[in-house]
Amino acid sequence: MARIHIASDHAGYALKQELKQHLTAQGHDVTDHGCDAPASCDYPHFAHSLCEAVLAEPDGRGILICGTGIGMSIAANRHEGIRAALCTNEFLARATRMHNNANVLCLGERVVGAGLAASITDVFLGTEYEGGRHQRRIDLIELSAAKHA
Ligand code: RB5
Repeated sequence: MARIHIASDHAGYALKQELKQHLTAQGHDVTDHGCDAPASCDYPHFAHSLCEAVLAEPDGRGILICGTGIGMSIAANRHEGIRAALCTNEFLARATRMHNNANVLCLGERVVGAGLAASITDVFLGTEYEGGRHQRRIDLIELSAAKHA
């Protein structure tokens, strides 16, 4: 099983604890990049730390959790090479792996329950990227590569 990076702010802390247990029970090696307590904190710090760790590995994978998942996804997607997808169901988790080769899953603790979050995570981690035509589109995401007609 692969190493999974995980991080949250205070609003995602409880769900992070549940997901860590779930992933560890499956045999994943889980690295927690904070926060370390449910006290109020600022989500971008944790998004940036996690993204640096994901990018430092050849096929790094991460999970970011905040109240909505939105702030984490906005911050994470500032990193070139990070494709962070906010998913609220298994369909999105499967599609973003197959088409976007997403390497970071974002979840909102105030949006999904622990059971659904675990199921979304399992699909995200278990779905392969399709490649092919999707790679051209992913390459075009980087502004330096995109040609606007
Ligand atoms: C914290 O209250 C909340 O704003 C944060 O967790 C996140 O949802 C931001 O997008």
